Formats: sequence, C-alpha cells, structure tokens
Amino acid sequence: MKKKALYVATFGCQMNEYDSLKMVQMLSPSYEVVDAPEKADLILVNTCSIREKAENKVYSLVGRFKALKARKPRLKIGIAGCVAQQEGENMVRKAPYVDLVFGPHQLWRLPELVARLESGESGIVEVRLEERPDIPLVIGELPGGRPVRAFVTIMQGCDNFCTYCVVPHVRGRETSRPPGDIIEEVRSLVDQGVKDVTLLGQNVNSYGRKEKGGPGFAELLEMVASVPGLRRLRFTTSHPKDLDDAVMSCFAGIEQLCEHLHLPVQSGSNEILRRMNRRYTREAYLDKIERLRALVPDISITTDIIVGFPGETEKDYEATLSLLAEVGFDQIFAFKYSPRPFTKAAEMEETVPEEEKLRRLNHLLEFQNRLGLERLRRFEGRDMEILVEGHGKGGAPNLMGRTRHNVVVNFKGPEELIGEFTTVSILEAREHSLKASSIAPPSVRDGCTRETHIA
Ligand code: 5AD
Ligand code: SF4
Repeated sequence: MKKKALYVATFGCQMNEYDSLKMVQMLSPSYEVVDAPEKADLILVNTCSIREKAENKVYSLVGRFKALKARKPRLKIGIAGCVAQQEGENMVRKAPYVDLVFGPHQLWRLPELVARLESGESGIVEVRLEERPDIPLVIGELPGGRPVRAFVTIMQGCDNFCTYCVVPHVRGRETSRPPGDIIEEVRSLVDQGVKDVTLLGQNVNSYGRKEKGGPGFAELLEMVASVPGLRRLRFTTSHPKDLDDAVMSCFAGIEQLCEHLHLPVQSGSNEILRRMNRRYTREAYLDKIERLRALVPDISITTDIIVGFPGETEKDYEATLSLLAEVGFDQIFAFKYSPRPFTKAAEMEETVPEEEKLRRLNHLLEFQNRLGLERLRRFEGRDMEILVEGHGKGGAPNLMGRTRHNVVVNFKGPEELIGEFTTVSILEAREHSLKASSIAPPSVRDGCTRETHIA
C-alpha cells in the first residue's frame, strides 16, 4: 500500500527535534516524510513556548496552512509540543481548521490519534498532564541519510520551577526513562552509524533520583559510554545546583565523554538569581567551575543568560558582565527576558524597558564575542580530531566537522571524509568557529612524517 505523505515543522530545542523524530518513527508504517507542506496529507507542527512570540509564530505558520486545506480538504493538521499544551482547547477555537492538538505527555498516543483523524474525527484536543508520563521505547530508522550525531531523551519534565520558566507547566513533573531503554536506543543509533550521542533532559543531573535502586546520572553515563562503537558522548542541560562531584569526575574518567559542558548560569547577580529561584549563588557557581577546571583544564564551558529580568538594575547587569569575564565562557546563548504564562515572574513588575533589554543584550553579545574569540585562540596551531558532518558553506570541497569541545571546524577535504573522524590542523580562530587544514592520513604520507596540508 502506498504510504501517505507527512510534513513535520519543528520549533525550539533539541528535545523537540527528538520528539519530532519519534513522531516520524511512530508513523513510519503508514507515512513517509516529505519536504514541503504542499505535498502533505498530514502536517504536524511541533511547537515551543519557552520565549516570547512563540505562540504568535505558530499561529501565523498554521494560518498559512489554512489556505492549503481549502484547496485540499483531505489534509489534516496537528499541533504538538509546548504551545499545544499551553493553548489546549483555545487552539481549535482560534484556528478551527486545526484537526488535532496534543501535548508532550500524549505524544506516544500519536498513531491512535492519527487513526481517529483518518476515520473522520476532527477538533481532537489531548493535553492531559500525567503524574508519571510514559516514555515508551520507540526505535526506528533515522531519516535523512546517515547522520553521525543524534539525541536521546533520558528524562522528561522539570521540578525546579525557576520563576521565569514555562517548562514545568507545559512538560510536567520530572520523570526518568529506564536505563535499559536508553541503552537499547543508543545501541540502535550506533548500529545505524551514529558516533556522537547527546543525552537530553531539562535537568539531567537529577536523572534517576525518583527511582529507588536505579542508576544515578554518573552511573548512566558509564553505562552509555560502554555501548560498543559509541565514540563521543555529551549531555544537556545541567542545573548548576545539581552538578555534583560524581558527574564532574566523569569528564576525567570516561574517555568518550567530550570536554564540553553547557551550564546555564542565567545571571551573575545573587539578588537576581534569588528572584529567579535558581537556588545557587554566583560564588557557588564559580566554585563548581573551578573544581571542574581542576579536573579537566581544557574543558569548554557554555551558558545561557537572561537580561532584563524584573528588578535587574544596571549593577546586576554589570555583575553578569563580570561573571562572563571571570569564567571565560566558550560561548553564550543570551535572551531578553519575556514573561511566560503560568510563571511566578509573570506576576512581578517589569522594571526594564524593552529598549534597555535590547541594549543590554547587544552589549552582552559584543562583550562575549571578544572573550569567546580569545578562548578559541587556544586551539590555534593544535592538531585536533574532528567528526566530519558534511559540506561547509559553498559546497565541495568545503567540509565542516566538530571537535570534542563542540566547536565547528571548516576545512577543505575529500568528500569521502563525511561521516568519518579525521585529524586537522587548526589554522585560525574565527568568531564562532575554527578554520583548519586537513592533514593527509599516514597511508598517503608516502612513508614520510611530514604533514601534507591540503588547504
Ligand atoms: N525569558 C527569556 N529567556 C528564557 N529562557 C527560559 N525562559 C525564559 C524567559 N521567560 C531561557 C533560559 C533557558 C533557555 C533555554 O531559555 O536562559 O536556559
Ligand atoms: Fe526551566 Fe529551570 Fe527547569 Fe531549566 S531548570 S527547565 S530553566 S524550570
């Protein structure tokens, strides 16, 4: 039987990318993925509501699909993810041409929900948040060639309730997946050629804390690293209050665990951290960074920053700048604060005007650009192993790969290197990447130890 056509649009974080992949895999017996909404019998939009205007973007995209549906009445439209959870019934009221709205805890029921659509039902809204949501094992082929990197969600939800954050309200309470399922999924990825796996969760450091007798996060890292053929292991996101010595030691003790940690600090001011309910201080954060660097001196550290949180004064903002200078982050992701539904901070008085938020954001990014470039310069002159992901800008012979530190490297080389590890010589640090020349492997060095630079 000919398969129907499925178009998936994904907004937001890596967890949403992962969820979209699971949707495709669950529907794969009867649907195949197409690259344009015009070709689809079913359109699924996986949405994100972490920051402002996310819902507006979703409504405007879905609005465009309305015209498609007028031309092709058989077309079904489904909305998944955090905006679906947040909007619920509202969504079908505001956009009556939407056939299905389902939240993150109902994701696994997709085949059943699609079957209901196919039998003529519409206006289906399934947004219940479960006490202990099920995260079943779904294994399948990876679409889109043979990717070398992949994500595996190890837990769902969050119990932290940072005052600005919508996640605990739309993804529910923290639940960990059984370790056996995680290992099986990683094995299947490695069998399909994946060499670099990132474990995902809103707060991976508390993995397994609610399950009695099971492994904690450090033990899980050991277990995953021992999957034969897995060369690189990463994880995100860590909460600074929960990053413990056991996990920090893994960076020194587990060969596959890459020298990169994303550790969102959000602000350098203790008063703002308190108002955000982050439950650590600037000093405690700095202390963890120091301990980590004592174990792995060369580790790359990246972070998230929010500017313009309610009550953030110029002095608080300067404390964030000085924290950036003190830590020396390799990269930052910075955002203007925006009030989110259901959150405590949304009830606080907004004291930083929009133009001032923008000024702080731009200034912060400029400040970090200089610091980040300085950090990247430590790699200049080194020979580094990279995993080649594909063509770089401009196509062949430009290639791009990634170091264990998670830095993108651009170089010239033969196409056969795609999907493989190779060693390159770092020539120059750019603002967010490195430029390198490839080093010919020993077999083509003609018995001579001199390096042959291709670019
Ligand atoms: N406003 C601005 N940024 C936010 N983030 C989360 N919620 C908000 C918000 N309401 C940022 C945080 C988080 C990242 C994923 O998004 O920095 O770490
Ligand atoms: Fe949101 Fe805080 Fe949970 Fe991260 S730890 S998902 S910022 S509530």
